[in-house]
Amino acid sequence: MEKKQISKAVINRLPRYYRYLGDLLEKDVVRISSKELSERMKVTASQIRQDLNNFGGFGQQGYGYNVEYLHTEIGKILGLDKRYSLIIIGAGNLGQALANYADFERRGFYVRSIFDINPRLVGLSIRGIEIKSIDEMEEYIKMNQVDIAALTLPKSKAPQIASDLARWGIKGIWNFAPTDLHLHENVIVENVHLAESLMKLSYKLSEKYKPADN
Ligand code: NAI
Repeated sequence: MEKKQISKAVINRLPRYYRYLGDLLEKDVVRISSKELSERMKVTASQIRQDLNNFGGFGQQGYGYNVEYLHTEIGKILGLDKRYSLIIIGAGNLGQALANYADFERRGFYVRSIFDINPRLVGLSIRGIEIKSIDEMEEYIKMNQVDIAALTLPKSKAPQIASDLARWGIKGIWNFAPTDLHLHENVIVENVHLAESLMKLSYKLSEKYKPADN
């Protein structure tokens, strides 16, 4: 397939298509029209057609989309046909919650190791994954393939750790620390900030349920 520039908005919608198609596959649905998909996803059929046309369409006139094929192809676009090795840095509440979530593996993301500075945590295991000392991290990264590092440590510590990770060759950072990281453009940072999502919810709630003007 020819590579062309795809807008960020389309990329942002792909995981949702992927999830819906995955649900359809689980229900043994073989094909679906853009109209049906649009009704399920509450996105217009023309939006779906436009989005999927970016990748050659995948659909056939009068047939709709082959669910398995579309799911596989979107998976490839999202890079989900590969396996990723993940490490987690910071084995506190959030780091442990991520490590405990086995479903990431279904998508090809494997948590291989967890690092922390707290000696009381080092040596413990979460779902069979050992927590190692942060002092062992450089050696570990040099000896093992690590694709993604999740940062679940205090925000004051995140920039230094992120720059160490970049220096040691990590290309993907999944950043949960509430701080912006400024790294070389070769390092791809995906920020996840639940508080920002809550603020959006709060905005929408206050817009919709504004107290009546006096
Ligand atoms: P926590 O205090 O339970 O865990 C932090 C862990 O990091 C501790 O185990 C601590 O020993 C470890 N740590 C501290 N310095 C370290 C270092 N230099 N190297 C390795 N490990 C180190 O905190 P929690 O609740 O798990 O939050 C972790 C981070 O995630 C915080 O920055 C918090 O603000 C952020 N957070 C982000 C959310 C989001 O939506 N993005 C949601 C919840 C928390």
